[in-house]
Amino acid sequence: MMEGNDVGARGAAGNNGRPASESPQSGRADSAVGEALTADDIAALNSPSNIPRFPRWAWAILVGLLIFISVFGALVWLKAEHNAALEDCRNAVSRSNQARSRLEKTLKTVASTSGGVTSSQVSQASVVTKLSATVSAASAILSKNPVLTAADACSTKSSTKSLKASTAAITAQTEAMRAHVDKVTKASTTVLASRDEKTLADEQSTLSALATNAKTLLNSTAAKTAETTYHEALSTEITAALALVKSKSTSSSSATALAKKCRESATSLQKAMDAVSASIEQQSGVDCDKLKCVALTFDDGPSAVNDSKLRDELDKLKVKATFFMIGKNITSSTSSNITRDVASGSLDGNHSWDHAQLSKLSTKDIASELSLTESAIVAAGGVSSGLVRPPYGAWNDDVRNVAAKRGEAIILWNVDSEDWKSLDAKKTTTTVVNNVSAGSIVLMHSIYASTVKAVPDIVHQLRSKGYTLVTVAQLLGGSPKPGWVYYSQHDMIHLGSTEQVEN
Ligand code: NI
Repeated sequence: MMEGNDVGARGAAGNNGRPASESPQSGRADSAVGEALTADDIAALNSPSNIPRFPRWAWAILVGLLIFISVFGALVWLKAEHNAALEDCRNAVSRSNQARSRLEKTLKTVASTSGGVTSSQVSQASVVTKLSATVSAASAILSKNPVLTAADACSTKSSTKSLKASTAAITAQTEAMRAHVDKVTKASTTVLASRDEKTLADEQSTLSALATNAKTLLNSTAAKTAETTYHEALSTEITAALALVKSKSTSSSSATALAKKCRESATSLQKAMDAVSASIEQQSGVDCDKLKCVALTFDDGPSAVNDSKLRDELDKLKVKATFFMIGKNITSSTSSNITRDVASGSLDGNHSWDHAQLSKLSTKDIASELSLTESAIVAAGGVSSGLVRPPYGAWNDDVRNVAAKRGEAIILWNVDSEDWKSLDAKKTTTTVVNNVSAGSIVLMHSIYASTVKAVPDIVHQLRSKGYTLVTVAQLLGGSPKPGWVYYSQHDMIHLGSTEQVEN
């Protein structure tokens, strides 16, 4: 077939449109070909039906068509390749934006969970630093890679080559963002696990310390109360607490659960200790030479609101306290505090009539300040306690001589809560708890809401450290000496002396 066409094409070009068979030269050509061909072949070639007879215009159309098909095909192929590149690019943009929003979401979650954990809250400080570095790196990636839109990143006007380059670059960024999601998530999980570990360790250590104090309380009071049920309950709580202290966690969630159990155990252990302490404190013969006693004292009342709230708290805690009252504050709206003190076993002392600085007054005026106040206390249904606290702690020989004549002791303090200065319950609690020792007299004021708020915490913490809370009279063995100045159970100045002695 090819041979026939070749011959036909040559014939067409050489014979000016006439059929090849009519040309005389074609006979020679045919005879040259004929040397390799059989006679039948030649006969077949010379047959008029087998010789192509396309006119030149047909050849032109055929060639033109072929060129058109080739060019059109090439164009279609290029367009298809461009479309594929465009779609790849758009898919890459969509994946990139998904990865970006996942990273943003991860960072947001971290900010509200592990991101707020400080190095002091974890068992290993380096995990917090690592998380912070990981978060910074991830944030940097986010700010370096703005949100992409398919129209901008994959323009239809871009070449296929440039679209492919964009796709590769966007995919690389997507991979980077995914890697950062994994890194941040891992670092965050590590921080939370470390925090849970530390929380458990802290709770166990707190519980362990409390259990040690409870054992001391149990041993020091075992023979001092008829209420054996309180001791039995405390002993059970101690055993349960010690078992929890020794427990180990196997996972982060079990650490959290165990920490919660430790907290609950600490609360019930505290209650059991309170019950034992209260049962001791309610007895008349508390021996502060054998127990670790502390006297809480409250000045400047009685006030209408905070004084009664304070007594509500003290009643709940079964704590007896000592109140140093300003005479002129005793009115019909405050006098019920005095009858409550008589009922609860708390003591009412003398803080002058109008908060005068007694050391600046004449002996006559000192005596008047003290007697007016004592009369007001008694008139309100109270009992004279024989305890005087001069305002500002200001005393001199005149003050103690007048007190001595009236059969009263001067009661100062060795722990100043500074509650009036901070007006902050937490600070007041910390100041008291950190400064108390066996035999302390604590100065507070009954007129401040912050002090009322601090009292339950102070009582719990002191009792958990094994302190027994008593009145000043109980602290000083029931009979403070007239004219003596007491700073604590063990620090005092005898009448006639200026020397502070330890007893
Ligand atoms: Ni005062």
